[in-house]
Amino acid sequence: MDDYISIALPKGRLGEKVYSLFDSIGYGCPEILEQNRRLIFTDEANGVRYFWSKPSDVAIYVERGAADVGVVGRDILLEYEPDVYELCDLGFGKCRMCVAGLRGARFDSGRALRVATKFPHIASGYYASRSRDIDLIKLNGSIEIAPVLGMSDVIVDIVETGKTLRENGLEVFEEIVPISARFVANKASFKFKNAKIEEMLSRLGSAMEVSE
Ligand code: PRP
Repeated sequence: MDDYISIALPKGRLGEKVYSLFDSIGYGCPEILEQNRRLIFTDEANGVRYFWSKPSDVAIYVERGAADVGVVGRDILLEYEPDVYELCDLGFGKCRMCVAGLRGARFDSGRALRVATKFPHIASGYYASRSRDIDLIKLNGSIEIAPVLGMSDVIVDIVETGKTLRENGLEVFEEIVPISARFVANKASFKFKNAKIEEMLSRLGSAMEVSE
């Protein structure tokens, strides 16, 4: 274990916001803003090392200790249940895990509901809790297409602005759980780099109070 705090960032919209937040509380690493294809950046002065990873992989890097901390959507934590500490809710990246389908559609409760999703664990848990039989269809993206093509009755997916649903003639039927970005830590790192991680957590807390 080195002295750096390694931070796994989710690539994309959420990641840029997360990096700005860390930069604003003293964990900047200016190289990260240069347009290039590098994925790992170290800032000796601030003692941090950043990784860009696929949003759904952040929790894996943190769970296995390749990153000490990371930021991950609650959807990923609920779906994969990684063995990490969830230290705080960052209050952004807000969206909802929902059941959606073609506007006005109704389904025969006598047969298994066909559910397309990127989140099979969340979807099966939700329907099991309601004692509803489902035929689960695991997809990897563009889930909204499935009901439009008649392949599924509903989807279980993230809704942020609702634009993707609207533009494909779908609507929300049920809300399963609210989602937002969470700051997580590797369990061993939390023990052995405790002062540094607690300091980071405290600065994150102060930054969130200011933005409220
Ligand atoms: C997510 C989600 C929806 C969309 C919702 O997809 O799966 O498709 O965003 O956002 P909205 O309510 O603001 O329209 P993502 O962009 O991650 O792409 P994907 O379909 O390839 O997973």
